[in-house]
Amino acid sequence: MGYKIVVAGATGNVGREMLNILAEREFPVDEIAVLASRKSLGSQVSFGDRTLKTRDLDTFDFTGWDIALFAIGSEATKIHAPRAASQGCVVIDNSSLYRYDPEVPLVVPEVNADAVMGYARKNIIANPNCSTAQLVVALKPLHDRARIKRVVVSTYQSVSGAGKEGMDELWDQTKSIYNPVSEVPPKKFPRQIAFNVIPHIDTFMEDGQTKEEWKLMVETKKILDPAIKVTATCVRVPVFVGHCEAVNIEFHDFLDEDEARDILREAPGCMVIDKREDGGYITPIECVGEYATFISRIRQDQTLDNGLNMWIVSDNLRKGAALNAVQIAEVLGQKCLKKG
Ligand SMILES: NC(=O)c1ccc[n+]([C@@H]2O[C@H](COP(=O)([O-])OP(=O)(O)OC[C@H]3O[C@@H](n4cnc5c(N)ncnc54)[C@H](OP(=O)(O)O)[C@@H]3O)[C@@H](O)[C@H]2O)c1
Repeated sequence: MGYKIVVAGATGNVGREMLNILAEREFPVDEIAVLASRKSLGSQVSFGDRTLKTRDLDTFDFTGWDIALFAIGSEATKIHAPRAASQGCVVIDNSSLYRYDPEVPLVVPEVNADAVMGYARKNIIANPNCSTAQLVVALKPLHDRARIKRVVVSTYQSVSGAGKEGMDELWDQTKSIYNPVSEVPPKKFPRQIAFNVIPHIDTFMEDGQTKEEWKLMVETKKILDPAIKVTATCVRVPVFVGHCEAVNIEFHDFLDEDEARDILREAPGCMVIDKREDGGYITPIECVGEYATFISRIRQDQTLDNGLNMWIVSDNLRKGAALNAVQIAEVLGQKCLKKG
């Protein structure tokens, strides 16, 4: 006996990956409904070897459905997540709407799987920001060994993190620069993204940091440990899929780089690719379609007593969004909504 699963936002970048991952991991699905906005009504999406027609989220009744994976952005989530939850369906939400709500668990299964048990307070579980998910997967085993004091992160985030419109803008702008018949001015991004990098993701906050940088800090504290200090600079780069992070970690206790490498090799969800030679590290292109969070360039920070530097790369549509949501559904099934 399996589950009745809903995917809301099934025509989007994350929704499509959710369908791929549910099929790849053979999630026990008895029945599946794929939802999008009214304008996409009837458009087709793939689920394993099946083709499904999308239905209208606005008129969908969640009664009798077990789990809904939401990937539709905060505005639509505000309307439909409480509706689905009140109709008895557990929502696993990818937007930022519920991440900071103390009554909603924010979960990365490799780090805090047990937090899923708190789902029943609102019938909602939140999925973190893409940059947070890959960061905490790598930090957790190191924190367990040497207690992290402070983390300094610089991100290199791909355009797919801004949805399908972000990918289209990079594609169209790149073509228009090679073949300048029509100009493609910045629309989704605040500056030209083709052949450029932009030190600005999400809105500016009063203290000068961006909301994306704030999210990394607050989410790492909620998922891993409120005592860890985090400071970030988040940058959009002209890469289609795959987020990278240059990370500097200060620990309370000394941790040797070789031991850190061994710990990360054994850690769930982590894959170490770290040879000190040409190409002995991971770049975004190699991580696309993978489940792992890849860690390279692990080295002692010579300016700190207890510091390490590393390079963390993951598929933002997978571990950063869809894979993490499906893993949460798996934990929910095993711990809370047992079938059969
Ligand atoms: N991309 C990432 O790396 C990432 C990572 C973590 C979290 N997230 C979050 O996941 C969510 C989806 O991101 P995405 O990258 O998949 O965006 P996307 O490619 O732009 O897709 C958006 C999806 O939401 C649907 N949608 C939008 N408004 C709707 C409404 N009012 N009613 C019904 N459906 C609606 C769209 O349907 P139509 O096609 O019909 O418009 C589409 O299926 C966002 O909240 C995002 O912040 C994304």
